[in-house]
Amino acid sequence: MRKLITVWHCCAFAHTGISRIAHIHESYHRWVKDVGHVVKEILPEGDICVHVYHKDDFRAVNVNDGIRPLRKSHRVLAKYRRERPKVYNSAGLGASLDDDWVELRRMLTDAEKLLHLLFQPYLEQITDDFINLVRIKLDENNEINILRYLYRWALESFGLIAFNRRLNALSEKVNKETDALIHSARQMNETIFLGNVCDYQRQYKRLIPVQDYFSKVMVTYMLEAVSDPDRDCLLNRLLEKGHNEKDVVTVILDMFQGAISCIPLTLTWALYHLSYSPDIFIQSRAREELIEIMPNKDSRYYELNKPVQEYLFIKSRAPCVQAILRETLRLIPPTIGIGRVNREDLILGGYLVPAGNMIILQSQAACRLEEYFEQPLKFIPSRFMNLKELNPELKINFPFGLGHRACVGFSFAHAQMIMALSKILRNFEVSHHHEEVDVINRLYNEPDRPILLRMKPLEN
Ligand code: HEM
Repeated sequence: MRKLITVWHCCAFAHTGISRIAHIHESYHRWVKDVGHVVKEILPEGDICVHVYHKDDFRAVNVNDGIRPLRKSHRVLAKYRRERPKVYNSAGLGASLDDDWVELRRMLTDAEKLLHLLFQPYLEQITDDFINLVRIKLDENNEINILRYLYRWALESFGLIAFNRRLNALSEKVNKETDALIHSARQMNETIFLGNVCDYQRQYKRLIPVQDYFSKVMVTYMLEAVSDPDRDCLLNRLLEKGHNEKDVVTVILDMFQGAISCIPLTLTWALYHLSYSPDIFIQSRAREELIEIMPNKDSRYYELNKPVQEYLFIKSRAPCVQAILRETLRLIPPTIGIGRVNREDLILGGYLVPAGNMIILQSQAACRLEEYFEQPLKFIPSRFMNLKELNPELKINFPFGLGHRACVGFSFAHAQMIMALSKILRNFEVSHHHEEVDVINRLYNEPDRPILLRMKPLEN
C-alpha cells in the first residue's frame, strides 16, 4: 500500500543544476532511486515541476487530462509567434492550450495523418536515394556520421508529404539551404528546451534568427506549392478544406520540426545500439527476415499492388525490425517523457499535487527501472518479440505520448522508421568501433558526439 500524505510541501524535492541540464536524463534516473516515485523539482527560475515514475500515477494524470490535455512548454516559441500576429494566430501545436489547441489539432484528421500512405512508393524512392548517398559518403573504413544524412532524408521525406516536391536535400553536393534548415531546426529545439527550464530571455533572443530563417524558407516552399493548387499535398489539402491560412502555416512548421528531429535520432540510436546488444544475433536474424520480404538488396519494400494500410501496424512483418525499433524507443526515445499540467488536484504516489502544476511522466526513466523491465539498461530487442500487449511494462512505455495530445506524426513516423530500418539492414552490416556515446538532451535525446557507424555494404 502506498502511503497517503496530503501535504504538498512534504513531497521530496530536487534541484536542477543548470550545468547538468544537458545530462538531465541522468538526474531523472537518479532521483527516482534516491527520492522515490514522486519528485518535486524547483526549477532555476523558481517554478515547480513534479516528476512521476509509477504506472498508477501515469494513469491518474492521463485520466485527469480529459480531452484537452494541458502542457506548459515551448514558451520561447509561443512568445515568438504571439509577437508576430500577422503570420501566426496561435502559439502552435506544442504550446497552445484549450480552444487554440483544439482548433489546430482538429485540422489533422485521420485523412491528413494517413496522407503518407498515398506517397509510399515515392517515400521509398527517397529512402533508396538516401542509401545510395550513404554508399557514396562512406569513408575508407566504411564509416559515416549517419545522423547527418538521416536529418537530410527526413527533411526530404516530409517535404514530399507537405509540398509534394523534392527539396534536393539528398544531393551528393553540399546543399547549403537544407544544411541551414537542419541547423536552424536543431537550434530551435535547443532554445525551446532551455527556455522551458531556465534562461528564458536569452533563449528567446537566440531563437529569433533561427526561427526567422526556418519560417522564411518554409514559407517560400509553401507559396510555390500554393501556386499549383492541383498539386496533391498536405498544404493544399488543408487549404482546400478552408482552414485558416495562418493556422495551416503553423501546423506545417510544427510538423516539420517533429519530423526532422525525432525520426533521424531514433534510427541513429537503433543502429548504434545493435553493436552493444546482448542479442548478438539480432541483426542477422532481422536480415534473414528481410531477405524474405526483399530477396535482393534493391527489392521493393512496398509491393505496389498491396493495400498500403497493410504495412502500418502489422506486427508479423519483420518482427525483429519491429522489436529493434520498440527497444530503441524504450531505452532512448527522442523525448524524455510527457509534460502535462493538471486541471484538478491530484493524488500522486500519496502526495497531493494542487491543480495547475507542471507534471512530467518520466517514461524513459521508468522504462529503465527493474520493476518494469529485466536488465533495463541493456538493449535487448527480443524482449519485445513475445511480449503481450497488456503487460504492465507497457503502461509506462509511451514514446509517442498518450491520450488526446499524443504525437500527431505517429503513423508516418512508425511507417518511415520500419521501412528505413528494413532497407538499411538489408543493404549494410552495421557496427560501431569507437568509444561509447552518451546522450545529451536538447529537447530531444541526441548523441553527445558524432556517432561514426561502420556500414559495410552487402553484396546482394
Ligand atoms: C520517432 C518519432 C517520434 C516520436 C517518438 C515522437 C514523440 C512525441 C511525443 C512524446 C509527443 C508528446 C505527446 C504527448 O504530450 O502526449 C509528440 C508530440 C508531437 N509530435 Fe511527435 N514524435 C515523433 C515523430 C513526429 C513526427 C514525424 C511528427 C510530424 C510529422 C511529429 C509531430 C508532433 C507534434 C506536432 C506534436 C505536438 C502535438 C500536440 O501537442 O498536440 N512527431 N511527439
